[in-house]
Amino acid sequence: MHIHAFPADRRRYSALLRHAHWLSAVLVLVAYAAIYAREWWERGTPERLLAGQIHTLTGLLVLLVTVPRLLRRFHETPPPVVPAPPLPQRLLAGIAHVALFLYLIVQPLLGVGTLLVSGKGIGFPLIAWRIPGLAVPNESLAKAIKELHEFVGVLFIYVIAAHLLAALWHWRVRQDNALQRML
Ligand code: HEM
Ligand code: HEM
Repeated sequence: MHIHAFPADRRRYSALLRHAHWLSAVLVLVAYAAIYAREWWERGTPERLLAGQIHTLTGLLVLLVTVPRLLRRFHETPPPVVPAPPLPQRLLAGIAHVALFLYLIVQPLLGVGTLLVSGKGIGFPLIAWRIPGLAVPNESLAKAIKELHEFVGVLFIYVIAAHLLAALWHWRVRQDNALQRML
């Protein structure tokens, strides 16, 4: 009989948590792609407007997907990583995941805040209806929120890259089941 040093634990996150994770990952990717692609077109062109609207739409969907996900996550304990990583590593992962969850909620809200406080309001692709901005805009506050939104946006490119590298490291180097739990 062959005895495995670490019996494989095949338990995964629940379907809701897995689907919400990958859906938000795709939405975040499209949100970044749209806001950076927007620079290819001149101000005032329909393409540039559409890129901005795709950015706001995918960003808002991130918020929409993350709310039920978090509500579920509060009373679902994730399946254990086997073999269990040492405590400092588990703490680091925990901090990273809390930061990512915070970002998934706060970053869209900062985007919404920018457009509402500036008075511009939020428009959507293909439909005329828009969420109106504040009747009395506050330009300097809008600018401050926008700068925070851009700073957090750039900062989390690095956090997400580290998260991706950590997942690959668990899979290829440490060869535990951390990634499999999310598939
Ligand atoms: C997870 C979701 C989001 C991410 C990752 C994200 C990321 C970013 C990034 C990186 C920028 C800076 C682009 C640059 O420096 O050129 C930006 C700009 C912006 N975002 Fe977002 N964003 C998100 C959601 C939203 C939402 C929901 C809204 C509005 C409803 C929004 C509105 C804006 C606006 C108005 C700008 C400024 C564009 C300009 O330069 O005029 N974002 N976003
Ligand atoms: C290709 C890209 C990605 C891969 C391979 C990946 C992989 C993983 C894995 C394996 C876990 C489980 C970690 C654990 O339980 O120890 C996880 C959790 C998580 N990921 Fe990702 N991820 C990716 C992209 C993203 C993105 C873009 C975000 C958000 C911006 C994100 C946010 C999260 C969060 C918040 C958790 C914690 C889940 C929970 O505790 O319920 N991930 N990811």
